[in-house]
Amino acid sequence: MILKRTKINKINLANRFVISPMCQYSANNGNPSEWHYEHLLRLARTGAGMLMIESTSVNKIGRISKKDLTLANNKNEKSISKLVKFLKKKTNIPLGIQISHSGRKGSSEIPWIKSNQSLKKNAWNTIAPSPIKRTKLWPIPKEMTLSDIKKLINDFKKTAQRANRAKLDCLEIHMAHGYLLHQFFSKLSNIRKDEYGGSLANRSRLLIEISDAVRKVWPKGKILGARVTGSDWMKNGITEKDTIYLVKKLKKIGFDYVCVSSGGIVPKTNLVFKKGYNVKFAIKIKKETGIVTRVGGIINDFKYANSLIKQKKVDFIANARKFINDPNWLLKEYAKKKKNKKFILNQYKRCISFD
Ligand SMILES: Cc1cc2nc3c(=O)[nH]c(=O)nc-3n(C[C@H](O)[C@H](O)[C@H](O)COP(=O)(O)O)c2cc1C
Repeated sequence: MILKRTKINKINLANRFVISPMCQYSANNGNPSEWHYEHLLRLARTGAGMLMIESTSVNKIGRISKKDLTLANNKNEKSISKLVKFLKKKTNIPLGIQISHSGRKGSSEIPWIKSNQSLKKNAWNTIAPSPIKRTKLWPIPKEMTLSDIKKLINDFKKTAQRANRAKLDCLEIHMAHGYLLHQFFSKLSNIRKDEYGGSLANRSRLLIEISDAVRKVWPKGKILGARVTGSDWMKNGITEKDTIYLVKKLKKIGFDYVCVSSGGIVPKTNLVFKKGYNVKFAIKIKKETGIVTRVGGIINDFKYANSLIKQKKVDFIANARKFINDPNWLLKEYAKKKKNKKFILNQYKRCISFD
């Protein structure tokens, strides 16, 4: 079931597994490095239905770290276009990109240098809905003015246009994991008194305005989605009820799907990482909104993933670490049936055995 060909919008997918976006902290001036070519080509050959390129910032201060991808100027557009052309020449997997702004989570150290810490040297001033620190160890972000908000909407729109010109098939707006749009959505990081804070409608306003602006420029026949948060896993935080409100709006605007994740508004929450920790939120969101729903988060067991699809509880499964730790796991699943031989590269046909 899960391995059957399918479509989102007009784009064909070989199956319902999507490679979740994974930041590589390996860009040079926002542009992909040789690492991105190697890493993404390897992922493109895993047999997945779609490959998402990592969280890519809509402007320079929206980067998480100095080594993040950006799609904010002509040079970035040219270099991402070159990467897409390279991947499309070698494989036919649909390619998506996740676009984002880190807000108060920006100006971070690269995780393998210092995990979850703000930069001490060559830091930049971050922005957020309200001047609330992420934790006491992080700097106070600048509260965004209405003109900052207007500029941000325009940056998302321009990045979407650049992604389209770069010939990407899918665009995903990052509204989760504690980044800027999640910071607006959650009461824990947004205490604004204007039309962008307070009620759920106000806290959703920027997310909806960006989605509207992007929808207007992103082609109707390509895939448009958002990564949303099912829960803040904190008292007074976001719950799936809030997200259902937001997702109904996104569906009305014309979004093709949402990918449900959770957590990240602050480093320590009540989230316990266990098998399928986002599944219950995704099921509710799909049921209440009817939108095509993808879910990620420790869904490493093929049978479990297949049962979620078979029972129509969700529509797509996002996997990140599984595709790194065991790149051929999906091809090995294909290899369980002889008729799937065509999915294995000729050069590797003698390596992956068939029943
Ligand atoms: C190295 C790494 C980088 C990640 N970068 C991103 C990212 O750019 N955008 C995003 O939404 N999630 C990011 N994530 C989260 C994954 O997409 C995924 O949701 C999470 O790892 C849980 O799924 P898994 O259990 O299949 O790995 C990252 C995870 C890892 C391990």
